[in-house]
Amino acid sequence: MKIGVLTSGGDAPGMNAAIRAVVRTALYYGMEAYGVYNGYKGLVEGEIRRLERNDVGMILNRGGTMLGSARLEEFKKKEVRQLGVDNLKRFGIDALVTIGGDGTYRGALDLTLMGVNCIALPGTIDNDITSTEYTIGFFTALDTAIDAIDKLRDTSFSHQRCTVVELMGRHCGDLSIFSGVATGGEIVITEETGFDKRAILEKIKHAKVMGKRHMIVVVAEHMTDVFRLATDIEDYTGYETRATVLGYIQRGGTPSAYDRILASKMGSFAIELIKDGQFGKAVCGRGIEIFAVDIKDALTMERKRTDLYDYLEKIS
Ligand code: F6P
Repeated sequence: MKIGVLTSGGDAPGMNAAIRAVVRTALYYGMEAYGVYNGYKGLVEGEIRRLERNDVGMILNRGGTMLGSARLEEFKKKEVRQLGVDNLKRFGIDALVTIGGDGTYRGALDLTLMGVNCIALPGTIDNDITSTEYTIGFFTALDTAIDAIDKLRDTSFSHQRCTVVELMGRHCGDLSIFSGVATGGEIVITEETGFDKRAILEKIKHAKVMGKRHMIVVVAEHMTDVFRLATDIEDYTGYETRATVLGYIQRGGTPSAYDRILASKMGSFAIELIKDGQFGKAVCGRGIEIFAVDIKDALTMERKRTDLYDYLEKIS
C-alpha cells in the first residue's frame, strides 16, 4: 500500500511528531510513504515525494511542519479537489492521512465523498475539534501563552497596571480559559463567556477600589478590539492599561511532552486504521485512549464546554 500524509491549515507543534509516526508505522508494515507538501495546495499542484525512514529523522522535537502547510479556499470547489484526486491516482496513493484543524477535516470529508481513503488527525493549537479531548499542539501553545502571561504579570504588577492580552483560538475559547486559570487571570473573555463590557468595567473598577494592585484580562481573538478595550478600562477604572496581542508566537516552538506523545500515538493509530481497511475516520483521544469516529461525525459533534469556566469565578 502507498500512504500519503499532509499537514494543512495553521501549523501546530507536534505535527512533525505525527508525520514521523505515520511514516515510520507505514514502513513498519511494509507500506510506502509519501509526503504531500504544503497541504491541499500541494496536493492539487502535485507536490508529492516519497519519504523514507531517515526523511522523518530529527523532527520529533521540532515545531512547525516539515511538510509545510497552507490554506486553500479553492479546495471547496469540486473541480479543484479533482486535481488532487488525480494526483493521488498518478502516484498510486491508496490512502491519505490529513493532519490539521476543522478546515482540514472538511477537506478530508469532501475527499472521502469523492472516493479517497482518508484518515484525519487533529493538529491545531485551537483545540476546536470536538471529537477529541485535546488536539495536537494545544498544550504547547498553552505553555507558550502561560509563559508570556507570567511575564506580562511581572511588569503589570510592578507598574500597577491592568494588562489585556489577546490569545488565538479562532472561535474556540480553550486557549484563553485554560491560560486564564493557569496564570490566575482575573477576567477571561471568550465566545463561551460572552462579552459584557459594562460588567467587565464595573468588575475591574471594583477591584481597583478594593485595593487590587494589578489585573490580567485574557481575551480570545475575535471577541473585541483589545486596544480599544484597554483605553476603555483606563478611562473608566483609572487603571493604567496596556494591551498585548500574542499572535503567531503561539503557533511555534518545541512540542511539549504531551503533544509529542499524543501525536506519536495518533499518527501510528492512523496507519492501524488504514491497515484494517477503515477509512473516512477521524482519530480522537480521550484520557489515555485513542479511538476513531467518522469524519462527518467529528465535524458535527456538539462542543462540550470545559468545566474550567466554573472554577474561574471562584478562584480568580
Ligand atoms: O487555526 C490556528 C490559528 O492560529 C488560529 O488560532 C488563528 O485564528 C488562525 O490560525 C490564523 O490563521 P492564519 O495563519 O491564516 O493567519
